[in-house]
Amino acid sequence: MTKEVAWSTPDRSTVAVAMAAAAAIVVLVVGALAVVGRSGAPGSLVERQNFTVPYGQDPLPSGTVREFTLTAATGVTTISGAGPTDVWAFNGSVPGPEIRIGLGDTVRVTVTNDLQVPTSVHWHGIRVPHSMDGVPGVTQAPIAPGESFVYEFTPPDAGTFWYHSHKRGNEQLERGLYGAFVVEDDVPDPYTQDVTLLIDDWLLKEDGKLDPDFDFGEDIRHNGRWGSDLTINGVRDPGLNARPGERLRLRLVNTSTARIYTLDFGLLQAVGVAVDGLYAGSPLEADGFVLAPGNRLDVDVTIPVDASGVFQISDGFTGGDPLTLVAINVEGTPVEPPSFDPPNGSVPDWSSARNWHPDRVFELALTGEEANSQPVGLAGDPEGDFRWTINGRSWPDASTHIADLGGTEKLRFVNDSSAFHPMHLHGQFFQVIARDGVPVREGHFRDVVLVGAGETVDVVVVATDEGTWILHCHIQLHAEYGMATLYEVSSAGR
Ligand code: C2O
Ligand code: CU
Ligand code: CU
Repeated sequence: MTKEVAWSTPDRSTVAVAMAAAAAIVVLVVGALAVVGRSGAPGSLVERQNFTVPYGQDPLPSGTVREFTLTAATGVTTISGAGPTDVWAFNGSVPGPEIRIGLGDTVRVTVTNDLQVPTSVHWHGIRVPHSMDGVPGVTQAPIAPGESFVYEFTPPDAGTFWYHSHKRGNEQLERGLYGAFVVEDDVPDPYTQDVTLLIDDWLLKEDGKLDPDFDFGEDIRHNGRWGSDLTINGVRDPGLNARPGERLRLRLVNTSTARIYTLDFGLLQAVGVAVDGLYAGSPLEADGFVLAPGNRLDVDVTIPVDASGVFQISDGFTGGDPLTLVAINVEGTPVEPPSFDPPNGSVPDWSSARNWHPDRVFELALTGEEANSQPVGLAGDPEGDFRWTINGRSWPDASTHIADLGGTEKLRFVNDSSAFHPMHLHGQFFQVIARDGVPVREGHFRDVVLVGAGETVDVVVVATDEGTWILHCHIQLHAEYGMATLYEVSSAGR
């Protein structure tokens, strides 16, 4: 993979890029499906393979209902030391409280909106019933100021997820409305520490306040809003301590609205065990993993018994000086390193994805254009006449692509622009099978795939969850300025 990035901070310059990144996922389906691809020519019909319950059985409900409340309101935090930063926060903290439940548990989360503007909460990566997906205008009405909405669901997959506002994300995520959501395995956690690390960057002014222009024209046109100050779990230095010999599970989540990280574990022995929530099936290379907005990577890190001192996990995406993300301070009496195989829960059967013959191909052309006619009304933004599009249409003007429940389908993202697009599909996972026509073997699933400038990425989806789901770029300004469409999974055509 090569990349060239010209990036300067703190002036909001353009990140000019050419690169490739990673991706993937998918699926399930029981039984033989003989469905004719609606858009396939008759001759292109291929016989479907039988898939065997790739996601495993849905977990048995534990019968436990875990209740949480999240209240969105304004707050103040300290990020830069230069002065207080006004934020929007769940329960008064950025990130909001970590929701951590056991596999099979039901959550009931009452979200109350104490802001002056509408909001909603989306459970990124969790396969929830459609009505619980938290997308205003698609799955629910926005939660008006002063109102509440109760979300209730039983996550079917164990793993690392997160929640965030799905309303005007370029402002609401940027201001701090996000938190972690972890579904623990149904076997005891064998690690000596299990730590969630939410990586965010903030664009602050010299006095420590957030730059108030959340709709900056150049950010919209290029790679979104990149920050000046980095935080992990809301602070600059999360102060992670470990003893020699410890074995940690680190759950890294990119909650940034636009910034991309290329992970470098330095001297640490780190093995990737899960991507975007789902176990990877076999260990994957953690060094060099590209964590785009929305992506998660779970790593299994063993601290050598004879180690001491500070170990860094850093980011090398821009090719400039590495940015320290997390420093782990190793000291104290060594512990006996726990010995166990990395966990590997129920995940889809990905082994054959590359050989799948999708019933059809759904091509999405990702482009941007100056709409010099009538500015599309986004909150009085003077520069809002630039629009991002998918197949020529700009959200909320979107076509609805219909996929057959249980069907397989190839999605081809064609990036006809010079910006990155970390594309995110709600409701289902997918697997990357090719980049620029060259087959790739990614042994894991994804819910976000980074599509580089000018790049074409093919993924296979097996549509497993019924409903009309949003599919969008996770660079929040790109989505806000049109890069979103609808993907309907329907049993109607069967
Ligand atoms: Cu993490 Cu539609 O979003
Ligand atoms: Cu999502
Ligand atoms: Cu984008």
